[in-house]
Amino acid sequence: MRKIKKISTFLNFLCNFSSLGVISCGSNNWHISLFIYSFEDTFMSSYSNQIQTILKDKYSIQVFDGEASQSYQNDQIVSEINNESSRFLLINLVDRLAAKTIVEKVETVNKPIIFLNREPLEEDLANTDNAFYVGAKPESDGLLQAEITNEYFEGFSNFKEKYDRNQNGVLDLILIKGEQGHQDTENRSQYSVSGLADLGYEINVLDTRFCDWNRTISRDYLAEIYEYYKDDIDLIISNNDDMALGAIDFLKEQENYNPEIPLYENFFPIIGVDETSVGYEAVVNKEMYGTVRNDYETQVQIIDKLIEFKLNSYPMETFPYEMDAINSYHTDGIKVSQKTL
Ligand code: BGC
Repeated sequence: MRKIKKISTFLNFLCNFSSLGVISCGSNNWHISLFIYSFEDTFMSSYSNQIQTILKDKYSIQVFDGEASQSYQNDQIVSEINNESSRFLLINLVDRLAAKTIVEKVETVNKPIIFLNREPLEEDLANTDNAFYVGAKPESDGLLQAEITNEYFEGFSNFKEKYDRNQNGVLDLILIKGEQGHQDTENRSQYSVSGLADLGYEINVLDTRFCDWNRTISRDYLAEIYEYYKDDIDLIISNNDDMALGAIDFLKEQENYNPEIPLYENFFPIIGVDETSVGYEAVVNKEMYGTVRNDYETQVQIIDKLIEFKLNSYPMETFPYEMDAINSYHTDGIKVSQKTL
């Protein structure tokens, strides 16, 4: 037993020594562990595929589905922290508040870790060289949603003249929120609304609800409130594309839906975030007026470099991307609308 353990340690040592971090050391290969909070999330599925596409030629990757349960994901993470073959952990948490305990655990075994998409609290990353965060910049996503809205209405005066459906002199909107406590929910919501105010709009949030990033929940939400608000709604802002698409699904079921004209002219504009492939398609089909790209391709490039730098102990002073908060990298959103197509 002892002998086997020694041999495997020696193999691990050789693998660890490989300067490029390429894993081809026989059956005891080390790997990178990728944890996704739920395979059912449209955006995270594309993210996970992109990670595998970019990293697959350099490393072997084991992917874990957290099935939206933090306690289930904790078991997966702990077992990979203790697994000597796992050299690097990429974690999309179910609950971002779980980060603290995980950082403390990886510190004891000196294993590097990147949290992606669900951001730990700043203090959780403050005292470690092993833990990083890579994700979107939700403040910029929200502001860009406001800009896209303004692009459609062409200023508040023009809105009042041409688009104010109940002629009450204010922009009446429905805000569809993601998951409660998620940094992208909080900041996209806040900045889309404050961004519109900064652009000179008087705003009235008719109604808002957490729809957990989910298309069906959002469809059902709109179905529930639509009868009451249908003559007032001037705009729907959604924290992501899937929930925007849920609202669109519902509007397409309405009697006055006319597929011959853009859905935003038929009803009112709906603005999302992500530019998932289904989201992009809805913009092209003139169903969703616009969205903001959640630039996961750049996020994966940063992740790729972080892995390379940490596994090879390269000095972080030469890292090609700039940190914008403690051990964190946030990518800017990019406008996608009828005008940018
Ligand atoms: C994306 C959502 C996704 C969520 C998952 C957000 O950044 O915009 O589409 O459901 O992350 O955590």
